[in-house]
Amino acid sequence: MLYYILGILAITAVHLILFMKCYERGIRYNRKHTIASVLFSIYMIFVIDYLQARVVDKLSEFFVVTLIFIPIGIIMPLIYRRFRYFVINVLFVGLFDICIVILQGLNLGEFMPVFIVFTLFGVLIGFVVSKFIRITFKDLRKSLIIKKLKKRVVFLSMEAEILVVSLLVLFFSVEIIEKVSGNNYVEKFDEKFEKTEVNKYSKIYFAEKDNYERYEAYAKIYPDMEDEEVVWRVNSNLDQYFYDSEYVNLADKNTDDPLLINKFNRVAEDFEPVKLITIEETYQSTKETSKAYKKMKSDMKKLNMNIYVVSAYRSVEYQKNLYNNYLKADSREDVDTYSARPGYSEHHTGRALDISHIKGNINAFEGSEEAKWVYANCHKYGFIVRYKENQTDVTGYMYEPWHITYVGTEISETMHKENIETLEEYVERYVNHKNK
Ligand code: DAL
Ligand code: ZN
Repeated sequence: MLYYILGILAITAVHLILFMKCYERGIRYNRKHTIASVLFSIYMIFVIDYLQARVVDKLSEFFVVTLIFIPIGIIMPLIYRRFRYFVINVLFVGLFDICIVILQGLNLGEFMPVFIVFTLFGVLIGFVVSKFIRITFKDLRKSLIIKKLKKRVVFLSMEAEILVVSLLVLFFSVEIIEKVSGNNYVEKFDEKFEKTEVNKYSKIYFAEKDNYERYEAYAKIYPDMEDEEVVWRVNSNLDQYFYDSEYVNLADKNTDDPLLINKFNRVAEDFEPVKLITIEETYQSTKETSKAYKKMKSDMKKLNMNIYVVSAYRSVEYQKNLYNNYLKADSREDVDTYSARPGYSEHHTGRALDISHIKGNINAFEGSEEAKWVYANCHKYGFIVRYKENQTDVTGYMYEPWHITYVGTEISETMHKENIETLEEYVERYVNHKNK
């Protein structure tokens, strides 16, 4: 896109110069000439854009580009019926090609767009270059006997010179300015205008521009993964190590009830959940959690099944003791697969419950009728089975059929309907980007 903006500005500047010169000399601004030169200019823009996109290291493609140039050299003299003009055009094409080779050879980048410099100096440079060319090439023109050609042809050749030289001057200017200032203006511009159009992730509403490179890197590791999955996973920081302090968010102090607590989203040491009530025996939970649990339990009773709370709300302090106790028996690596570090447990919210059909025994729950029923039906009550089988790489925990989390029926039903297995995915799709 940059090249088109640049090209349009260049055409405008060049025509302005020519128009003024015609006016100055009392020559009518030739319509045929104008159409031809505009076509030529558009063609130049196309070529520049093509070169920028394609001609990097590939010599074969470079020849293709050279071939594309040739019609210009043919069309122009057909319009003007002058062999000499054909020669001039071919010479310009050659000159332009040589400049490209030099630029590539010097490794000055892939024809960096020059929007910023152009907007500042574009028109000015156009004028300066036109003067420069007129003085410098006066003798050369004489030797090519252009002097005897009709004035309009001289103007057209001059236009081509101005266009080519001013574009090259601009390319170099940007390179030099970027090198001197150490700023990459082009990249910044691209980020703003181009990447959003070109990057495949830009079509995904929950993709974040700042993460594009991370998506690409992650997709390389998982080439078969769907783009949307790559995006929500990376947004959830799953391309990073769990608990990496650079990526861990602290739940906003004003957020009484943070929805997502995991290995990248923690609560503060002194976190206090929303008001807790007794859910069963000595266990505490939020009011909504308790209500939903009781409803589910009574419905299960009608089917001759029973469940009990084995664990509910836990303070950060409680989790600290728990985690440290586990560490006495297991390595940190192992403990991290089944116990949250203090501050990182969903149990801090008062919305997470460990349940079992046998009092005090969560390990017996897996595979039981009750576990199967809960798995299939808990969404109706606003619960989700939080650490599902095969979701270990997302949740960071082994399968915990007993750990259910109250998220409300709106969320649990959506997740059920949309086959969303983890809260991480739900949050990326429906919470963090809901205004997009
Ligand atoms: N067992 C779960 C992961 C916790 O400790 O919160
Ligand atoms: Zn639990």
